[in-house]
Amino acid sequence: MSKPRVSRRIASIAESATLAVDAKAKALKAAGRPVIGFGAGEPDFPTPDYIVKAAADATSVVANHRYTPTPGLPEMREAIVKKTLRDSHYAITADQVLVTNGGKQSVYQSFAAIVDPGDEVLLPAPYWTSYPECIKLAGGVPVEVFADETQNYLVTVDQLEKARTEKTKVLLFCSPSNPTGSVYSPEQVKAIGEWAVKHGIWVITDEIYEHLLYDGATAPSLPVLVPAIADHCIILNGVAKTYAMTGWRVGWMIGPKDVIKASTNHQSHLSSNVSNVSQRAAIAALNGDLSAVHKMGEAFDRRRKLIVKLLNEFLAFNAQLQLVRSTLSIR
Ligand SMILES: Cc1ncc(COP(=O)(O)O)c(C=O)c1O
Repeated sequence: MSKPRVSRRIASIAESATLAVDAKAKALKAAGRPVIGFGAGEPDFPTPDYIVKAAADATSVVANHRYTPTPGLPEMREAIVKKTLRDSHYAITADQVLVTNGGKQSVYQSFAAIVDPGDEVLLPAPYWTSYPECIKLAGGVPVEVFADETQNYLVTVDQLEKARTEKTKVLLFCSPSNPTGSVYSPEQVKAIGEWAVKHGIWVITDEIYEHLLYDGATAPSLPVLVPAIADHCIILNGVAKTYAMTGWRVGWMIGPKDVIKASTNHQSHLSSNVSNVSQRAAIAALNGDLSAVHKMGEAFDRRRKLIVKLLNEFLAFNAQLQLVRSTLSIR
């Protein structure tokens, strides 16, 4: 009876805060309440028609009813190779790609692949809720490096250097960032990448929000600006945010061949291949153009500007109210 019912490792995991908030918002909406959920990063558009059609067609192909190779359908891995060259100007080969059950599984498997118990992982904060849990599940120690609004939520090389110890193995890098939306400039990306190379630190770079950019910002892929990191770098990505495909569960990791092979072995015992129908949909998404993505981006930008304007008006109103209150000595 002295043994815990749930293992200590699993009992220590916190629930995904974003999914908890999202479930609450969806329940309120279903009950007829006028709720807009800002919890999960989930486009409210339907998946574009041509992507849905590719999936519908795939359901009647018997080959898609069967197990397929763990690292992904050959056409899917090739589509990722082509997309990575088109969008990031980064040249890779198909054996550097592992297709996973959403980007979230890529996050989990990447830390599992390169982190040993006691290794420290530098984690720029504010961060997305799943990172520390995935680091801890791998036995690693998350080391937060905090950047506030005065530095636009972007960590500097000086801050990273201060947090570095002999145990530091990995830096988690996310640009554009969830939750802050901040984007590192090419100079900042280069400086951080070169610092990592200098100290033999791995970089896991999460590029899932690569297409959600505003006001002319660009988000260059870290190994493109710092090619010397390639052998110690894992890129995470997926179709969820770009193509409004959160429910289809398709993501991928790109990395050195030995890491991808090891992670494929891991996945072969965990979840095997990603749903073939979802992969067929993702192939259509990646092989298509970005016009639907740009259209959604324009709507996001309009809403972003509106909410920033409303918040600023609210803050200005609040400041005036405070002034009136203090003038009239109202407490
Ligand atoms: C920063 C970041 N990375 C990865 C993911 C994983 O996305 P998915 O598993 O839906 O592909 C998310 C989802 O919210 C995210 O915000």
